[in-house]
Amino acid sequence: MGPGISNIPPRVLEHLLPSLPPIRYVDIGPVVSLGGSEARGFALLCPLMPQHFVTLPSSRVKQKVKATVNLASRLGAKIVGLGGFTSVCCDEGREIVEDCDVAITSGNTLTAALAIQEVIRASKLLDLELENAKMAVIGATGDIGSAVTRVLAPRVAETVIAARNYDRLNEFAHELSVNSNSKISIVKYVHEAVREADIILTATNAVTTVIDPADLLPGAIVCDIAIPHNISREVRNVRNDILVFDGGIASYPPLESMGKKRRWTSLFPVPTQIYGCLAETIVLALDGRYENFSIGRGRITEDRISLIWEMSGRHGFSIGAFYCGESEYTPTDIARIKDKLRTRKRSLC
Ligand SMILES: NC(=O)c1ccc[n+]([C@@H]2O[C@H](COP(=O)([O-])OP(=O)(O)OC[C@H]3O[C@@H](n4cnc5c(N)ncnc54)[C@H](OP(=O)(O)O)[C@@H]3O)[C@@H](O)[C@H]2O)c1
Repeated sequence: MGPGISNIPPRVLEHLLPSLPPIRYVDIGPVVSLGGSEARGFALLCPLMPQHFVTLPSSRVKQKVKATVNLASRLGAKIVGLGGFTSVCCDEGREIVEDCDVAITSGNTLTAALAIQEVIRASKLLDLELENAKMAVIGATGDIGSAVTRVLAPRVAETVIAARNYDRLNEFAHELSVNSNSKISIVKYVHEAVREADIILTATNAVTTVIDPADLLPGAIVCDIAIPHNISREVRNVRNDILVFDGGIASYPPLESMGKKRRWTSLFPVPTQIYGCLAETIVLALDGRYENFSIGRGRITEDRISLIWEMSGRHGFSIGAFYCGESEYTPTDIARIKDKLRTRKRSLC
């Protein structure tokens, strides 16, 4: 946010924001793809904070998201990516798409694809054999959570799924057990789900953290896709024996030189890394695919994940280094965590 807004006390801002119209925040691009195609756009602020998505009437929230999408359309956008909770509040765009005359995507398919690749890479780095690993997915019945679970559960020995609604968990557990050999179990409480897991993927829409670092095993991998985060970034100060990283993040190396002096890189956690939802929107624009690509909760298939992964690779997007907030894991950090994991595994033999 600009300095004007950041000087306003948070409580006043929280009260003030919902009465503001959408704001054109910053222009994005031009982003030039590996293949030479070019895309430009802009980031609009839908003036709501995460807590507003819970405290305000849902009709008012949807109205604000629609107004923001319609502003994008008036400004000439051909596709709109719904970042953060703006997709969560309207069934990943499905509930507003009819009232908007522009293509919409939640960006969740590429976000899920990135998280899957990140977990595979993290396991390799730590020498953790996926086929013997226990995975916990928090927010497993959500759009991203269910997509990553469907792809990764068949590759791990045990899968624990957690969320608050037990009926939805039960239904999803049944689907998973039909389609994979992984031992599937349901857990309602997050601390129970994470305390024996080698790998934790977390993608809840909670507005506060849900994972206590003290519950995690030495050598655990935590891919935290949620925004706001599901585990505090202070975790690196208290647990240097676990790999907790920002998940669902794309790396686009040309941004380092292209974006350095540009304001729009302030949208990213670190200069070459882009949130998966924004990356998907840019990739679709680079590919000229102005369509409702990721829309409606629970509809992300493995084929769509492969499709967006192929498209994003073709345009130069991939996964990058592991970051926890602004702090990158160094080879020394990785070696230390690997050692902790090895010691834990040895103690089990
Ligand atoms: N990294 C990125 O680039 C990126 C891109 C897109 C989205 N995101 C973020 O990813 C997260 C998930 O998005 P989504 O669209 O998949 O959301 P979603 O479809 O609404 O799913 C949220 C899931 O979290 C569960 N949940 C909510 N509160 C919980 C709690 N306290 N404990 C355990 N489970 C809880 C929900 O189930 P119950 O209601 O049954 O608990 C549901 O399974 C959001 O934080 C979003 O901002 C990040």
